[in-house]
Amino acid sequence: MSVTIGTPLQASAFKVLLLGSGELGKEVVISLQRLGVEVHAADRYDHAPAMQVAHYAYTLNMADAEQLKQLIEKVQPHLIIPEIEAIATEVLVDIEQQKIATVIPSAKAVSLTMNREGIRRLAAEELGLPTSAYRFADSLESFRAACDDIGYPNFVKPTMSSSGKGQSRVKGFDEVDAAWQYAQSGGRINQGKVIVESQIDFDFEITLLTVRAQNAETGEIETQYCDPIGHRQDAGDYVESWQPQIMTPAALEESKRIANKVTKALGGCGVFGVELFIKGDHVWFSEVSPRPHDTGLVTLASQFQSEFELHARAILGLPINTARHSAAASAVIYAGIDADNLSFSGLNLALLNPNTDLRLFGKPEGFKRRRMGVATARAETTEQARELALHSAAQVRVQAQ
Ligand SMILES: Nc1ncnc2c1ncn2[C@@H]1O[C@H](COP(=O)(O)OP(=O)(O)OP(=O)(O)O)[C@@H](O)[C@H]1O
Ligand SMILES: [Mg+2]
Repeated sequence: MSVTIGTPLQASAFKVLLLGSGELGKEVVISLQRLGVEVHAADRYDHAPAMQVAHYAYTLNMADAEQLKQLIEKVQPHLIIPEIEAIATEVLVDIEQQKIATVIPSAKAVSLTMNREGIRRLAAEELGLPTSAYRFADSLESFRAACDDIGYPNFVKPTMSSSGKGQSRVKGFDEVDAAWQYAQSGGRINQGKVIVESQIDFDFEITLLTVRAQNAETGEIETQYCDPIGHRQDAGDYVESWQPQIMTPAALEESKRIANKVTKALGGCGVFGVELFIKGDHVWFSEVSPRPHDTGLVTLASQFQSEFELHARAILGLPINTARHSAAASAVIYAGIDADNLSFSGLNLALLNPNTDLRLFGKPEGFKRRRMGVATARAETTEQARELALHSAAQVRVQAQ
């Protein structure tokens, strides 16, 4: 059943609570605002991007169960959208069980994906999907044994981390102890547990945006896919993405099979970013975000409905359209310095080409590798679009006041 949307700021309001207010959340909020939804945005710091476009903003520690519970009681949202992973997920499980609010896409999805162990065991052991070989370790000794088992080079990641934090590529046994130390410093909630993964020798990697949404006529949840998004990662962080990524029909079909299986197991409605490694016709599952994906920022330029609009519609039970109208690319704009109160100039040059566009996220504080904005570009081919997006992003000069 699709929802009835009331009037924001009045008793009939349809209320959404966003947990995590970054740049992806900001675009989701804008999409929800356009549909007349009342939006409440929370984060651990004031003036986070999505807070700036929401009706209400709250600053709290969302990993603290008590604080989170109190906020949900106060707001009484219809939907809760976790936008980050560091959340007291046990509270969300409770909320869902007691039918107090709907957790997007589901409490299970949010709990499993916040921990690399949860999602990896689900994908590889329960669903039988192809992944890299892996071991878990929670002490230096078991870590050394895991590295020995998996071989080199391998990838080491804290089980509770994202955006490349605490992650390293270990080329030989002489690097093992340093990788352990580094992983211990980078975990989000320091559990000390890491995953060791064999290196997949892929041709390229993609994000397959997968949308679970209700069929408008039957009410059944159906799965639809956006065209594959190719991307380039640097130090565990995306720097460039483009759509479509050309791949063989067999690899595309296998990608969809994997994405369908994993998103079905996680349940609920909304956009999922399924990360896959591709070599020829072979596909490996890497990980999945139960929400719009950073590499999917390119859909702002390439699709009739961006991943943010798709997410807003899908969670409201509305029909969606995943079609692409153009080849496009996105390129990240970093702060490049550690400072707050930043200024952005060169925007006229960045937008000189009529097929370019820009998002500046409005983050109150910058640091060298913090993503402050993104340039997007449309072109005949993805190659041209990449060149244009990179050029556009490079025109933006970031300066401390
Ligand atoms: N087993 C592997 N084999 C080859 N490359 C890998 C492997 N694991 C990770 N990588 C590379 O490192 C990147 C980051 O890994 P991963 O997505 O697991 O980390 P993350 O911290 O969740 O990053 P993000 O939050 O940006 O998605 C991958 O996109 C890929 O380029
Ligand atoms: Mg990733």
